[in-house]
Amino acid sequence: MTGKSVTAFAPATVGNVGVGFDILGHTVKAVGDRVQARRTAGRGIRIAAITGSQATLPLEAEKNTAGMALVSMAGALSLPFGIEISIEKGIPLGSGLGGSAASAVAAVVAANALLDTPLSKLELLKFAMQGEAVASGSVHVDNIAPSLFGGLVLTVGIDHPRTKQIPVPPNVRCVLVHPHMFLSTREARRILRKTVDLSDLVWQTANLAGFLSGCYTNDLDMIRDSFEDVIIEPQRAQLIPGFKAVKQAATSNGALGCSISGAGPTVFAWCEEHFAEGIRAAMVEAFAEHNLASDHWVSAIDTEGARIVES
Ligand code: HSE
Repeated sequence: MTGKSVTAFAPATVGNVGVGFDILGHTVKAVGDRVQARRTAGRGIRIAAITGSQATLPLEAEKNTAGMALVSMAGALSLPFGIEISIEKGIPLGSGLGGSAASAVAAVVAANALLDTPLSKLELLKFAMQGEAVASGSVHVDNIAPSLFGGLVLTVGIDHPRTKQIPVPPNVRCVLVHPHMFLSTREARRILRKTVDLSDLVWQTANLAGFLSGCYTNDLDMIRDSFEDVIIEPQRAQLIPGFKAVKQAATSNGALGCSISGAGPTVFAWCEEHFAEGIRAAMVEAFAEHNLASDHWVSAIDTEGARIVES
């Protein structure tokens, strides 16, 4: 073991945000993963420990999201040293809160601090994407990009991704309710149809454009009217017991919109701050009526992404 150790924190994220499948996501302030990294004398990536998770995650670097992100980084940079990491999972596994992405992001941010010449966040994004692919079976960025950059983030492109932080009206809060069940992202992606009706494409395109323009212009009515996923949510709702009742509980208590966080099972709702507690209670109760206990948070959507927290 050589050199200093650094610890990075990467926040949980809401992928898709309803209208932006695989391209839009935002940070959740309340929870996240931490990765401690240090240089080692020999080359290669080693995972020393994983703590905090409710299931066993692989310690083999190539099979672990954080490990694979670093394997990809070390290979591309031909690093003359090795890296040993310890992962502390704060995000429940299989929750739809971007846990695999957060571990990959925290790993590359921590490792970056060990480099003689640190890289830009955009360069780190590509390595983290390789890590995320291990967990979900495909390369997508809607969790990675916000966890890395912070806030509501749109990503365009995969091979040469471009990211844009979208402003969010300041009094908007996100209510998140995570029912105690596991949903595999791979499975939630496998069930999706590969084709889309033209009318649904038009509707969803309008909703994404309306949602983003509402965010830019502080127009809550536009956000509310656009906050509808007509393509993915109808296909995944059946995977989450009580989803319709939970969504109804949110919207009837003043939510701007409510949908599935990432691949689920966490359900999220955007709302004005003063509605947040009422919406949280109603959503939790609706899940309880379907025999599901839950964790729940109310989060601002601030612009703070992954960062070094100890060095
Ligand atoms: N956009 C992804 C999905 C997020 O919905 O499948 C989960 O990784």
